[in-house]
Amino acid sequence: MNTATDHVRIVEVGPRDGLQNESAIVPTATKIALIDRLSDTGLATIEATSFVSPKWVPQLADAAEVYAGIRKARGVSYPVLVPNLQGYARARAAGAGEVAVFTAASEAFNRRNVNTSIDESIERFASVLERARVDGVPVRGYVSTVLGCPYQGEVPVADVVRVARRLHELGCYEVSLGDTIGVGTPTRARAMLHAVAQEVPLRALAVHFHDTYGQALANILACLEEGVRVVDSAVSGTGGCPYAKGATGNVASEDVVYMLHGMGLHTGIDLDKLVATGAWLAAQLGKDTASRVTKARSAA
Ligand code: HMG
Ligand code: MG
Repeated sequence: MNTATDHVRIVEVGPRDGLQNESAIVPTATKIALIDRLSDTGLATIEATSFVSPKWVPQLADAAEVYAGIRKARGVSYPVLVPNLQGYARARAAGAGEVAVFTAASEAFNRRNVNTSIDESIERFASVLERARVDGVPVRGYVSTVLGCPYQGEVPVADVVRVARRLHELGCYEVSLGDTIGVGTPTRARAMLHAVAQEVPLRALAVHFHDTYGQALANILACLEEGVRVVDSAVSGTGGCPYAKGATGNVASEDVVYMLHGMGLHTGIDLDKLVATGAWLAAQLGKDTASRVTKARSAA
């Protein structure tokens, strides 16, 4: 294993990636309570919500209310997703101090997700990044469909590398590589990360696995072995993308943290508190948790 550092930063995406995909709209107060609970677990980064078009994602139409209502814990950052300058302006008006932009390695997926080509979506970000630079706002970038696309099928690694490099060149401090539909397997995940790391420094890369085929933890392990030290996950394993047919939840944060701690890696996260939050969220959503760790702890 590449042991450059034994600290792994978890980017908790449940309040955004998780709740954007719930069929019933989760009450604003529940979203706020979720983020406040997560703020007490030791997480350093909690993606709070998304300032996309409410016509496209009605589940997060209350982004401004959620952002205003959460307790901002010291030492925790609360990035929000923005698709364009309009979203950036709404996010800033709500008080957001960090944003994330998103595009894909697959043209077909990007058209369905943001109604434009990859290059045009990157052009939109260029103005967001320019404004953010002036405002001193850090910007994270996502590349979706890095290991497969629900519409196009195969996604060439060269396309992932090109888009990731472009986001980094434009000023994204970190680029998160998303297996949006969870079809990747460890050897391919590792090879994809290795190829991107030839163009973007590994310390500026994160991995984002959905667990549709039960491969997410194995893929994360393979990428840790390649040297990545930032992992996106969602408490209770909620999540998906409304514009990615068949995509199920993100890998559960509890399961990632259990694996990392078991390997002697550090996250700064209190696993018991995270498990309690996952169990609480599952009860709020009226569904079983997707986290094996939370299930095992509840049964014990
Ligand atoms: P469009 O319809 O092409 O854009 O949507 P438009 O510019 O023509 O705007 C249409 C209407 O939306 C207008 O309103 C705009 O004002 C409004 P109207 O004049 O009709 O009343 N509008 C907005 N309103 C509020 N906030 C905004 C905003 N922008 C426009 N920011 C657009 C283009 C990008 C807006 C749309 O396609 C969109 O919002 N898409 C978001 C899709 C999305 O959120 N997907 C999920 C997140 S990505 C993901 O989950 C993957 C990830 O987890 C990584 C992985 O797993 O791979 C990150
Ligand atoms: Mg996702």
